[in-house]
Amino acid sequence: MRKPRFPIAFTLLLVVVVGSARAQVRVASPDGRNQVTAGIRDGRLYYSVQRDGRELIMPSLLGFEFRAAPPLRDGLRVIDTTRQSVDETWTQPWGEVARVRDHHNELTVSIAETGVPNRRFTVVFRLFNDGVGFRYEFPEQPNLGEFVITDELTEFALADDARAWWIPSNRPRLDRSEMLYTSSPVSVIDSVQTPLTMETRDGRTFIVIHEANLVDYARMNLAGRRMENRTLRVALAPYADGIKVYGRTPFVTPWRTIQVADRATDLAPSVLGLNLNPPSVIQNTGWIRPMKYVGIWWGMHIGTMTWSSGPKHGATTANAKRYIDFAAANGLGGVLVEGWNLGWDGDWIANRNAFTFTQAYPDYDLRAVADYARQKGVKLIVHNETSGGVENYERQLDSAFALYRSLGLDAIKSGYVTDVTSQGYSHHGQYMVRHYRRVIEKAAQYGIMLDVHEPIHDTGERRTYPNMMSREGARGQEYNAWGGEGGNPPEHETVLFFTRLLAGPMDFTPGIFDILIERGTGRPRRPEEPRVRTTLAKQLALYVVLYSPLQMAADLPENYDRQPAFQFIRDVAVDWDTTRVLEAKIGDYVVVARRERNGQSWFLGAITDEEARTFDVPLSFLAPGRRYVAEIYADGPNANWRDNPLPVTITRRTVTRASRLRLMLAPGGGQAIRLRLAK
Ligand code: NOJ
Ligand code: CA
Repeated sequence: MRKPRFPIAFTLLLVVVVGSARAQVRVASPDGRNQVTAGIRDGRLYYSVQRDGRELIMPSLLGFEFRAAPPLRDGLRVIDTTRQSVDETWTQPWGEVARVRDHHNELTVSIAETGVPNRRFTVVFRLFNDGVGFRYEFPEQPNLGEFVITDELTEFALADDARAWWIPSNRPRLDRSEMLYTSSPVSVIDSVQTPLTMETRDGRTFIVIHEANLVDYARMNLAGRRMENRTLRVALAPYADGIKVYGRTPFVTPWRTIQVADRATDLAPSVLGLNLNPPSVIQNTGWIRPMKYVGIWWGMHIGTMTWSSGPKHGATTANAKRYIDFAAANGLGGVLVEGWNLGWDGDWIANRNAFTFTQAYPDYDLRAVADYARQKGVKLIVHNETSGGVENYERQLDSAFALYRSLGLDAIKSGYVTDVTSQGYSHHGQYMVRHYRRVIEKAAQYGIMLDVHEPIHDTGERRTYPNMMSREGARGQEYNAWGGEGGNPPEHETVLFFTRLLAGPMDFTPGIFDILIERGTGRPRRPEEPRVRTTLAKQLALYVVLYSPLQMAADLPENYDRQPAFQFIRDVAVDWDTTRVLEAKIGDYVVVARRERNGQSWFLGAITDEEARTFDVPLSFLAPGRRYVAEIYADGPNANWRDNPLPVTITRRTVTRASRLRLMLAPGGGQAIRLRLAK
């Protein structure tokens, strides 16, 4: 046990160092293990982060550059510090865990320029046991009203050349996040998206850099321009002319977050970012409900249906009813229908302004389908692809959302397939951040849940707007349907769990049973054709591993026909009370156990990369004194992702919390287990 050393050390430091030439202040986390030191050196403001007295982030610069104003960087002094502590617990309407503890110590450092223009700002640090958040606040003041940020100077000077799992942020085209992850020493990175996950070379500490509560600012990427010092610097996504942010005081930036953990198993689920977002502004959240869904979707990606009109048009009234029947028969909550609205004919990515969000193709009767869904107790999920034509979308938001509302439709999947927006702005700049936020607010106003594809990365918006449920923002299952880049390798999801998923839920769309994608196309596949690079059992495990409150059963309904393994998708929960990561190695494997919300069942998901693995899992998380039936969906004999992906062995056994389960995962395989109370 380490003693909290915060209060005494803090008071002493304040007395001793504030006002001196090298003013330094410190604040520690409630458990005393994480510490931030902030102070002035040669007139510049720096912060550093220590864990157990060991430097994780070395003194790193803080500050800004502006258009038509001197940088806020030099000639600075600390004029005041205040602190407070918070320990409160709040309940999520839905999530990976029900209850979230916000336990932190806060230090506010007020800074002033010693010379003209004598501007003032504060940096607020919040120290949690699982990491650090800090942000800048600019109070209203005579010499800082409206401003234009050309650069945020915040640095993260890493003490160690840690191993990083990362995707770049500066590649031409694909100004999105749908890339495969690279693993390398952090020092080779030139540009990177967050969350950026790192493991120190001695394996003692995991560090994740990200941001929280991005509202009216540019998204944060990081640049490795000074990597000779292992220093990452904030690189904000720009407007077309290079400007980063327009603002006026009073103004606060998003939080910059540094999550820390001793073990990979402690990385998820992260609540640091949620705690740095304001509480929900939606009073009654009863209508916001997690669900599983199927969709007129995979067919477009494997080429058996089209979004556009014609003989293969997927979104027909009859087809939608067929999917609704399937969902109702299998207890799945929703049906997504893509390609229902006019605008898909021709090059829909180029013709972004042709999309209407209210008018359906003649062979799709929106009202009839909505009525049918309601009668069957299924939610119709409306698709809004914008192709980045955000003005076209914004012009129609009210009329479209009002229409959906009038038809009783309260869930939308949106999309932003584009490299740059119509104005040539970055997909992730302030302009788009504002747009995505506007849509969240508008959806909340109309009582609509959102699942956003090609989104801004998740910075914890769901705490304030629980209708912002899921998003893509990484390379999902769809890549397995396309040719070209070769789909997702077997390790992909074992990386996603520790990178993208640390930011929040992902609509990965698991559950492809036709692993070789041949039944849908009705002909045998050729070796070079697209396919899924997992076993079928691993597809089941992804329902537990890759959290999403909107969780798709992505395959064609006919591919679930007479498949005993489909029972797991019917049974698996989508809302969790508790989450435990039992075994983990980034890029190799992960074993996750979650207890359903408002229920006693546990679900366990285990996935591996291309290597076979065996785990011996104690079930000590189960309730004492109770017997459970374990329904086990395991890789069958000789299963492997490459040439025998389909065999799944389904077995049942009675277990208690004293039992252990031996999980045998095939190469590229997985295992999914439901543990329900024995009758
Ligand atoms: C990309 C999305 O990720 C996918 O789910 C969708 O079907 C297409 N865009 C079309 O909107
Ligand atoms: Ca996508």
